[in-house]
Amino acid sequence: MLPLSPYRHLLVLLAAAPFLPPTLGAPSYPLSSESMERIGDCVDYQIPVTTHTEAQVWGLPKFSNNFDVSAFILSLIRRKPVPPTIPFNPFNGTKDVTGSYTIGATFCSPKNATGGHEKTVLLATHGLGYDRRKNFQTQLLTNWLELYSYWTPTLNTSEYSFAEYVVSKGYSIFMYDRVGTGKSSNTESLATPNPKPRTTSPSSPPLTKSVRSGQYTGELGRPSKVVHVGHSFGSILTHTLVEQDPSLSDGIILTGTGYNGTSFPCSSRALASTWPTRYPGLDSGYLTFADVYGNVATFFNPADFDPEALWYTQHIAQPLAAIELLPSASGNPGATNFTGPVLILTGEVDLGNCNGNCNGLLEHPARELFSQAKPFQAAVHPKAGHGINFNPNATGAFGVMTDFLAKSGL
Ligand SMILES: *[C@@H]1O[C@H](CO)[C@@H](O)[C@H](O)[C@H]1NC(C)=O
Ligand SMILES: *[C@@H]1O[C@H](CO)[C@@H](O)[C@H](O)[C@H]1NC(C)=O
Ligand SMILES: *[C@@H]1O[C@H](CO)[C@@H](O)[C@H](O)[C@H]1NC(C)=O
Ligand SMILES: *[C@@H]1O[C@H](CO)[C@@H](O)[C@H](O)[C@H]1NC(C)=O
Ligand SMILES: *[C@@H]1O[C@H](CO)[C@@H](O)[C@H](O)[C@H]1NC(C)=O
Ligand SMILES: *[C@@H]1O[C@H](CO)[C@@H](O)[C@H](O)[C@H]1NC(C)=O
Repeated sequence: MLPLSPYRHLLVLLAAAPFLPPTLGAPSYPLSSESMERIGDCVDYQIPVTTHTEAQVWGLPKFSNNFDVSAFILSLIRRKPVPPTIPFNPFNGTKDVTGSYTIGATFCSPKNATGGHEKTVLLATHGLGYDRRKNFQTQLLTNWLELYSYWTPTLNTSEYSFAEYVVSKGYSIFMYDRVGTGKSSNTESLATPNPKPRTTSPSSPPLTKSVRSGQYTGELGRPSKVVHVGHSFGSILTHTLVEQDPSLSDGIILTGTGYNGTSFPCSSRALASTWPTRYPGLDSGYLTFADVYGNVATFFNPADFDPEALWYTQHIAQPLAAIELLPSASGNPGATNFTGPVLILTGEVDLGNCNGNCNGLLEHPARELFSQAKPFQAAVHPKAGHGINFNPNATGAFGVMTDFLAKSGL
């Protein structure tokens, strides 16, 4: 089980900011790959969001080197005496935090809108280590290249791009950078082991409301259905969303997640602090893969991966805040009031969720946690590791997802 979002306990009091006019992305870079441009119409947005949260305050010294990071990871994953389990708690009190963020987002809809699905918008939330899109400065060139991340990589798009796949099937998609990644702003107020308070990117409820109202859906207007799709940490945020307000979503697809295991932080031993040079402006509480071997062990099937895809993800890796790894104190959430369709799809050899073997582990207790979901489906995706979209046969997984939507009437 991925540590459950600590944020599900945080009260999101204030939703979307007064809806300011969307700002179109700078025209100096392509909004999408050439192949996407052939089949879809894409538009970029910078979306202002204000949230009010009760944040936890970091109570430990900040990391001064990567040995401190190792010690933190050990405290996090080490076996707790049972019973009672005493969760590792690095916090000292709470604090009210109002955060104003700008969320980078892209919306794409199919040019060929004859299939009847185009008004179904998939709202996609990426997980830790990724983003929607970032600027990447190559070492050889001085110019900035636009690289696309989890949902729409520019690497062999017919094989790896979820966005292109769903648009080719007639669906629309809205993708955004979680706060602190990609082109979303205000990393300052993200919690890190600095004396800064812990807060988060509770942006999906306000974003959902804006997307539902048709504000960030290009020429499409108001969607008829909004389906939330998450990967990993993005799945936790998605689960939390329908737990808190089941009416916000018409269906959810949770990928790279699981509820029957407790080992996710084990793969965190592959992490190291990002400072001092790679991500200027971030403090030492932001972590990334220590090296490409940590990446392959955590996100791929080491026995079956495309080295090009591995290196691509290594280049686009986004740092995560150390606090994002912390489990919540209260165990599995339930979303028993959610009555829409729920699909859980996780790679067979996912290390973090299933200790490398998800067979037999996805169905329960997920089915009970979503006891009113209709339909409910749990799918083990053969041979894939945690980062499904960059693993071989990613389109096989995409097909399971669009088939599920179609058979659920979405
Ligand atoms: C926790 O906060 C209190 C009040 O701000 C402070 O006096 C105390 O030293 C803090 N403890 C730790 C461990 O940071
Ligand atoms: C448009 O989509 C429909 C249904 O999805 C498909 O049958 C048709 O071949 C597509 N037309 C073009 C020109 O791609
Ligand atoms: C892209 O993926 C497809 C499908 O697996 C494959 O046939 C093709 O050779 C790949 N292209 C490149 C440039 O790697
Ligand atoms: C489900 O909805 C009922 C009625 O609104 C409410 O009392 C209950 O707390 C909800 N359950 C959960 C798990 O949110
Ligand atoms: C976890 O999976 C095992 C094997 O399928 C099953 O026996 C067990 O009941 C599941 N745990 C929960 C809490 O559902
Ligand atoms: C590709 O994925 C689909 C869906 O999970 C699966 O049915 C199929 O067997 C996979 N193909 C291979 C070659 O693993």
